[in-house]
Amino acid sequence: AYPKRVKVVEVGPRDGLQNEKGRVCCDNNDPRSDFTSAQNVVPTAVKVNLINMLSETGLQVIEATSFVSPKWVPQMADHTEVMQGIRKVPGISYPVLTPNLKGFQAAVAAGAKEVSIFGAASELFTRKNINCSIEESLERFQEVMAAARTANIPVRGYVSCVLGCPYEGKISAAKVAEVSKKMYSMGCYEISLGDTIGVGTAGSMRDMLSAVMQEVPVGALAVHCHDTYGQALANILVALQMGVSVVDASVAGLGGCPYAQGASGNVATEDLVYMLNGLGIHTGVDLQKLMDTGTFICSALNRRTSSKHRFSAVLH
Ligand code: HMG
Ligand code: MG
Repeated sequence: AYPKRVKVVEVGPRDGLQNEKGRVCCDNNDPRSDFTSAQNVVPTAVKVNLINMLSETGLQVIEATSFVSPKWVPQMADHTEVMQGIRKVPGISYPVLTPNLKGFQAAVAAGAKEVSIFGAASELFTRKNINCSIEESLERFQEVMAAARTANIPVRGYVSCVLGCPYEGKISAAKVAEVSKKMYSMGCYEISLGDTIGVGTAGSMRDMLSAVMQEVPVGALAVHCHDTYGQALANILVALQMGVSVVDASVAGLGGCPYAQGASGNVATEDLVYMLNGLGIHTGVDLQKLMDTGTFICSALNRRTSSKHRFSAVLH
């Protein structure tokens, strides 16, 4: 049976914009070489406008930015200005990514009321993404968890590479279950399972979720599907059938992961909401307003939408 309602977590302003392409550096030995250079940074006002428009669509959760190193991710260097520039609508949560205590403290100082830590089920991806081993990442997360507990700040946990890794290839469901369990036991209220490079299929999603659900209650799980191979909606449908009721998505399908070359954006929020509407699953999201927001950000970035939901809302 499908859930009656689904919480849509909009990650476009963070996962979408963090990888917004421009000129790419070309030093192949530099771990940051896949990254956007400082010249291509999306203006803060555009980011603020995007988040403010998303706040009008009925979404309850809008991931706003990340408090990561500006050397690693220049696109998120204006995190504080974004957090302070947006209109924070009561009832909407604006979580931000915090890889370590330094990021957590900066986030709280900027007014963040919720944060996310992000680990992975792959050693090599963890190294490329946050420059440490899985073990070390969990130690850093413990520090964030302790500070968050004191500050009464809820923490979401991401696990990346749950259906495959750009560096290691296949990732075992057992490893995903193990890392998920550790992050849940630390006190994350929700674990978002990331198909970082969008290589999962309905079958691998089913097998991975079966393993993770042995360790983490399904009510605390979310899925985060990138759509590289066009499988995101099918994979999400399987997750819904297995009881998952929190789904991450990105307006206009913005994005990709800077440390996963070739990976495309998340499933488009428009496409997800259209599918959920068709199943009679409540989201509270206004599809037309979402489409207008997609049009805004695509014209601001001078890019095409990755949503398939391009035409008028006549049929809804
Ligand atoms: P590092 O270089 O190993 O860190 O980076 P360090 O502790 O050795 O510090 C080096 C410098 O960074 C120092 O500055 C620190 O102060 C500074 P310096 O002395 O050289 O001037 N620093 C920071 N600055 C700002 N904010 C901080 C911070 N921490 C240290 N929080 C670090 C380690 C984790 C910081 C770095 O690797 C990093 O920022 N990584 C972020 C990568 C990232 O943002 N990736 C994308 C998000 S994850 C994702 O997209 C996947 C997801 O969508 C799910 C999915 O799809 O699977 C979530
Ligand atoms: Mg992602």
